[in-house]
Amino acid sequence: MADLDRAGIEELLDLADHFTEVLERDIPKVPALRGATVATLFFETSTRTRLSFEKAAKALSADVLNFNPSGSSLSKGESLKDTVLTVQAMGVDVMVVRHQAVGAPARVASWVDCPVINAGDGAHQHPTQALLDALTLRRRFGKLDGLRIAIVGDIRNSRVARSNIDAFTALGAGVTLVAPPTLLPLEVDSYPVATSTDLDSILGELDVLYLLRVQLERGSGPVLPSLPEYVARFGLDRRRFGLLDKDAVVMHPGPMNRGIEIATDVADDPRALITEQVGNGVAARMAVMFRLLSGRGQP
Ligand code: NCD
Repeated sequence: MADLDRAGIEELLDLADHFTEVLERDIPKVPALRGATVATLFFETSTRTRLSFEKAAKALSADVLNFNPSGSSLSKGESLKDTVLTVQAMGVDVMVVRHQAVGAPARVASWVDCPVINAGDGAHQHPTQALLDALTLRRRFGKLDGLRIAIVGDIRNSRVARSNIDAFTALGAGVTLVAPPTLLPLEVDSYPVATSTDLDSILGELDVLYLLRVQLERGSGPVLPSLPEYVARFGLDRRRFGLLDKDAVVMHPGPMNRGIEIATDVADDPRALITEQVGNGVAARMAVMFRLLSGRGQP
């Protein structure tokens, strides 16, 4: 997100709005990137982000090469650099990279000649998630200026939170991070946000409650008091949902842990925009790929 100022984000959101309309057509496809090849390289697990990039590339008529690390020559000791240079040698126009190491997509970009899109690097950044979330909020509320957004949960380990703080504040929203102190980032004082440890006290003031998954695989377990205590203090159940303003919405990047950060019935409420976020992800990723490879045609 650091590559984009407010105008840059808005240009991508405008383009994404256009692609949302394309995706609603009977034939949800445009020839804009015909002849281009998009390679997805996900060194870490993914359901929605990888499929969303694939769907976005196909809706732009690009060809897609999916690299799957399990079953690849990584298990024979091939390095990340040799892997991406091998993929590049096949002739690709853009690479989409997810990796558990912070900075891996940037490193890949220094090795290859084509643009590289960060699809999530460690606990660092997940910029296309922030774009799709900003798109979802702009489509719902018209603009983000003045929106009061709380991001709740495992912020310390969350690349989604870091990218969303950048995007939401650049677009004029006010952000409050809500978490047990052990799940707040060490560098939180340098963020343009407020913080709270008391979810109940701020619920009534919010337009958007953005929930994060407790990322046990990133080591959140040991720093939590206990999972039941986390659920009791920070989980969004029906009672807490009732304390929100009637126009407030709930968001979650997925994958959800139903019964932990969000109760099942709340996740399925029409004011939970979770599937809408997924749908908007395709348009947002079309916008990013089109922007990087434009010059090839009109949207
Ligand atoms: C997230 C991710 O992988 O960063 N999911 C996503 O891309 N929508 C968040 C998570 O894993 O909790």
